[in-house]
Order: sequence, then C-alpha cells, then structure tokens
Amino acid sequence: MRLPIIAANWKMNLLLNDARNWVKDFKHSLPELSSCGVVVAPPFTSLSTVKNELAGTEIQLAGQDIGLALEGAHTGDISAKMLKDVGCDYVILGHSERRRDHHESDSMVNEKIKIALSQGLKIIFCLGENEKQRQDGETQEIVKEQLLSGLSGISSEEINHIVIAYEPVWAIGTGNNATPEQAQEVHAFIRTLVAQEYGDAVASHIRILYGGSVKSKNSKDLLGQPDIDGALVGGASLVAHEFCAIINTLI
Ligand code: PGA
Repeated sequence: MRLPIIAANWKMNLLLNDARNWVKDFKHSLPELSSCGVVVAPPFTSLSTVKNELAGTEIQLAGQDIGLALEGAHTGDISAKMLKDVGCDYVILGHSERRRDHHESDSMVNEKIKIALSQGLKIIFCLGENEKQRQDGETQEIVKEQLLSGLSGISSEEINHIVIAYEPVWAIGTGNNATPEQAQEVHAFIRTLVAQEYGDAVASHIRILYGGSVKSKNSKDLLGQPDIDGALVGGASLVAHEFCAIINTLI
C-alpha cells in the first residue's frame, strides 16, 4: 500500500507575511493526515519561517532546487547542505520551469539527485513532455529518457528516497490538466520502467505524483487512478483552504 503525498509547490510566490498566514489558515482547516503525507515547498526566503510555523505538525518541508556544489564560491546558489540545515526533508528537482529557465539538462538533474541523496534529502523528481512532444506522439520516449537519465547510477536502496512527479509541461499553470486516463497511462508506463530497472518490489512501492493544474475540482478523479499516488500542486496550493480541499479528496 502506497501512502499518497500531496505537495504544495509555491514557486516564486508568497512573501513572509503571506507564508505565515498560509500556515495559520492551513492549520485551521488541516484534515486528519493519517491517509497521506503532506509536503510544502516555499521559496528559499520563507523556508525558515514556514518551518517554525509548522512546528508540531507532520507536514514536511521541501526546497525547490539546489546548486551543484555543497558550499563555496557560487553566488546566488543554495546547497543541499543548506536545505538540510534549515530543516528540509525534501527537494524538488528537475521541474520543467528550471529546465526551461535555467537550461537544466537531464544529466544536471541526475547530478543534483545524487547530491541531494548524499545530504539525506528526499527528492521529488519531476519529468514530463511538452505540448509538441505529446502531439508528435513522443510522450513515452521523452518520459523514458528523462526518467532513465535522471536515475542513472541510482541504486535500488537510494530510489526509496525518491518520489517521481509526472508533470506534462502543457498542463502546468494552464488550467488544462491531463485527463485522469491520460495521466494514468503515463504513470503506469513510468511504473513499468521502474520495474524493468529496479524490479517489481521497488516499482510497487515508489510514489508517482501527478502535477499540472490540479485543483479540488479535478483532484478526486485524478487521485482515484490506480497508479497516481498523489499530486504536486502549484497555483492551487497558494490558497490554504483550496490546498486542504485537495488533501480532503483522499479522505
Ligand atoms: P500548477 O503547477 O498546479 O500551477 O499547474 C504544478 C507544478 O508546476 O508543480
């Protein structure tokens, strides 16, 4: 039985005061969490504040990226060591916005996954095809390439610390979510690939989240699919009660 995860990716949103209010509202309407794990990924500037505000809850904290080094002369970068130090449990890696805005390649994502693992961080590893690739029938090819490159050199012990997030780029921030059937098809494909690489036991345990315009209106159908083990939520996570409503779908 896979415990689902619902993760909030705030991206570059919410100032300190907004973050404090979000946690206050969230705690107010927080459902019983026995049936899922919850992860919140604020921007670097509010990690510490959110960590403090979440004290006493079971909600886990994530960073949204790490640099390629652990310390040193890398102006503007934040290291895996720093995320660990501030109290992060997870880091989101390979998000399509980082691939697009910062030219992150599959091999760079793979390097970051290894660095994050070395520091004891768990990973939400994002992948997904863009609109043209889907139209051209290349979805499986792209997903396979991103998955296998990202996991290159990762052992069957290490993969237990990785959660995969299938995020079709055309569905992110567009309001145009993948249908539950479209998402399920890719999730099942990803699980098959994991089984081929790591065996059936690993594949049956690994969590595969769906991301891309998830909201409380569509979450029940998406999360009801057999291979969808949770959601990575961007826009709809910025309002605490909407994020709670998505979590409530699982209860
Ligand atoms: P969205 O973003 O929910 O706003 O589509 C999801 C994500 O990019 O993680």
